[in-house]
Amino acid sequence: MCASGHSFDAAKQGYFNLLVGKGTSFEADTAEMVAARVRFLESGHYRPLADAVAAAVVPLFPAEAATLLDSGTGTGHYLRVLLDTAGAAPARVTAIGLDISKFAMRRAARLNPEVTNLVCDVWQPLPVGDDSVDVVTVIFAPRNPSEFARVLRPGGRLVVVTPRAGHLAAIAEQTGMLGIEAGKDDRLIDAMSAQFRVETVRDLDVPLTLAPREVADLAYMGPAGHHLDRDELAARLAGLTSSSAVEARFRITVFCLAGRPR
Ligand SMILES: C[S@@+](CC[C@H](N)C(=O)[O-])C[C@H]1O[C@@H](n2cnc3c(N)ncnc32)[C@H](O)[C@@H]1O
Repeated sequence: MCASGHSFDAAKQGYFNLLVGKGTSFEADTAEMVAARVRFLESGHYRPLADAVAAAVVPLFPAEAATLLDSGTGTGHYLRVLLDTAGAAPARVTAIGLDISKFAMRRAARLNPEVTNLVCDVWQPLPVGDDSVDVVTVIFAPRNPSEFARVLRPGGRLVVVTPRAGHLAAIAEQTGMLGIEAGKDDRLIDAMSAQFRVETVRDLDVPLTLAPREVADLAYMGPAGHHLDRDELAARLAGLTSSSAVEARFRITVFCLAGRPR
């Protein structure tokens, strides 16, 4: 029960649903999009990104105990790699995963049973106390800078993963995936600048060789999945050769709180 008297559902699948009433008008990822995401991420093509995120985040944990919030955790894939990597470090990690999609959260709860998994809307006040989190991670998911700043402890960090210009460019047109507009990186930094300043930036390029089925999953698991029809996609991809060479281009940006250095 929250302070306003709402009670919340503890789903038998192992997560808490904190969406009240009809919830947000935002379009959550569907079950099909989530299934495509699970298949693609399990293929290991994005493992170098998961390892790079873990390498960026784990050293930010305080020595003894750390609290981590993965906002827009999706199926919990990156959080799993992060927790496994942190398992070898001395810090005890308490992790919260949140996402607006209950389909994603069912998967995340299965993969990360030790995590507090919450279905909620990042555009609403987050169900996390002020100054209580050491690191917020946001991997290809929406960002609410004022809420992230509120929940972070002084000295805490926000780690954001975004695609860079040219990401998956070789297959973007065929699949109807949305291209990355020029200037997007600057807009991200501008949008965060009232609360955060950039501490480090790491770019990661991952060459991929993808089977047609993997191209379809990659297209379907992202924002394009909301407006792509599966049959139309199959028709578009009918001409694909047995493998497509494509490059994934990522950026990992670590932000610290503006005016509150460690
Ligand atoms: C592209 S997926 C990335 C998921 C995960 N971080 C990953 O990389 O596998 C974006 C995620 O953001 C979630 N999302 C979108 N809008 C949201 C909102 N308003 N509040 C919370 N999560 C949201 C979607 O449901 C989806 O799981």
